[in-house]
Amino acid sequence: MILTLLGAPGAGKGTMARLLSKILQIPTISTGALLRDEIESGSELGKEIDSLISKGNFVSDDMVSSLLVKRLQDADCQNGYILDGYPRNESQAEKLSQLGIHLDKAVLLTVADEEIIARLAGRRECPHCRATYHIQHNPSQVDGVCDECGATLQIRADDAPEIIRKRLEIYHKQTEPLIQHFRQNNLLAAVQGAKSVDDTVASVLQALGVTL
Ligand code: AP5
Repeated sequence: MILTLLGAPGAGKGTMARLLSKILQIPTISTGALLRDEIESGSELGKEIDSLISKGNFVSDDMVSSLLVKRLQDADCQNGYILDGYPRNESQAEKLSQLGIHLDKAVLLTVADEEIIARLAGRRECPHCRATYHIQHNPSQVDGVCDECGATLQIRADDAPEIIRKRLEIYHKQTEPLIQHFRQNNLLAAVQGAKSVDDTVASVLQALGVTL
């Protein structure tokens, strides 16, 4: 199964992708995480990416697509995968078609902008395994420490309030048109993302026709 998760920044794509990955036994590929890994590597490309992401801007289609193509060559992608954050505009959707990648579903998580701002203000991320937490809704067992790998949790640079507003603006302008694109191609499964994490995952599985 090949899925993509669509939704505003903070809609819960990463949280949902990690849970679905365990349930469906396919890897999740977050382009945001791939980009942050490149930043962590300290490479010249990483520095260029950092200067874009930290201001809330998209990275160029070529840059992000080449990282994705490289990741898709890994053996664990043979039986399907969950894309988190790609495609994010019409030209990236076109790139998927050019690569001969046919999505089974595009899952849209809908959450109002005010809820997004509250979610991202409380998000903590593991810089090592990229697990995400929320200080109220989804806290780690030990404050500030990743449950999965024990690393110290961080606040993402692009979770500053003014950057969140910019990311939302770019989402509405560049990514939202994809909703219509996927609807026209009978691929869209829209799910209310403002419920609890457990209820949201249950709705997504129902939309995918997966029974446990
Ligand atoms: P990326 O990392 O993909 O950021 P994003 O799309 O802005 O999404 P987020 O990771 O902020 O949020 P999410 O929807 O995954 O929510 P999460 O599960 O963490 O990309 C970062 C940047 O990289 C982009 O801004 C761009 O610059 C660049 N980039 C990436 N892909 C690109 C592309 N294809 N092209 C160009 N540039 C690209 O949840 C958020 C918080 O809410 C967490 O604290 C979580 O615990 C909590 N939460 C989750 N679900 C619930 C719930 N149901 N109830 C309560 N709290 C919840």
